Amino acid sequence: KRHLISAADLTRDDAVLILDTAEEMARVADRPIKKLPTLRGLTVVNLFFEDSTRTRISFEAAAKRLSADVINFSAKGSSVSKGESLKDTALTLEAMGADAVVIRHHASGAPYRLATSGWIDSAVVNAGDGTHEHPTQALLDAFTMRRRLVGRDAGLGKDLSGRRITIVGDVLHSRVARSNVHLLHTLGAEVTLVAPPTLVPIGVETWPCEVSYSLDDVLPKSDAVMMLRVQRERMNAAFFPTEREYSRRYGLDGDRMARMPEHAIVMHPGPMNRGMEITAQVADSDRCTAVEQVANGVSTRMAVLYLLLGGSEPAVTTTPAART
Ligand code: CP
Repeated sequence: KRHLISAADLTRDDAVLILDTAEEMARVADRPIKKLPTLRGLTVVNLFFEDSTRTRISFEAAAKRLSADVINFSAKGSSVSKGESLKDTALTLEAMGADAVVIRHHASGAPYRLATSGWIDSAVVNAGDGTHEHPTQALLDAFTMRRRLVGRDAGLGKDLSGRRITIVGDVLHSRVARSNVHLLHTLGAEVTLVAPPTLVPIGVETWPCEVSYSLDDVLPKSDAVMMLRVQRERMNAAFFPTEREYSRRYGLDGDRMARMPEHAIVMHPGPMNRGMEITAQVADSDRCTAVEQVANGVSTRMAVLYLLLGGSEPAVTTTPAART
């Protein structure tokens, strides 16, 4: 069984194959009938122990567009609230015939545990684990950057070599930042993290990126600026400047956006704290790809499910499935 646990596990060829397959899947979305029969007869379980809007819905849409059956499981309202363990929950899902389990969990490492425990025989896809990784978010972000910065057709087979990507904000709690740093580096991009010193993770010097504390210095040299959500639910108040101070030094407003090169885009994985890390003016501007990222998430997750589950028919690609 193949799994997708970490963006750091992907080679450049794996990642480019997923992005190219996602482009083919996006063509399906442009057709009057948006469905492919490739995963007919297979079952995808969405196992969500943490809240989600975009990831859960887009995995559901992706699986349905590939004709898989979908079971949605939310820990809220389930027997998890009676103390049922991850193991017993997983065994229950296995008994229902899951071929792939898409898991979001508050504990870093839970998807790895599920994939390597021997409890289940399904492919496991990490949909966000604690502060560790969110690999499909990084893939849909890379897909969006490649489309915008290289081109939809011109980008096929290509990576992001030489593109300068700035990731801003609450890096300490961000699985999105960690996955993006690894994947963007693998794809040849130059990544700079900008954050208050208290929100930079210990050990960041081992990450393949630069660190800056001045957003204004970095903006003019960025092809894409990714604003991170301030994760108040994980925040130790001692680590956080006041909201006003944070916005003043690390928030993106119209004046700051004007310092970016004309071609540069603003990204946000969502959900956004409007008025904190990003102003409404920037969030609603043509340069902000937040909504486009959500749409691209469906094509990207179709590609991941297709490549992992090895659909019975060559959907739109004949290349071998990615090693994940
Ligand atoms: N970007 C993201 O993971 O959003 P959700 O928490 O809504 O899934």
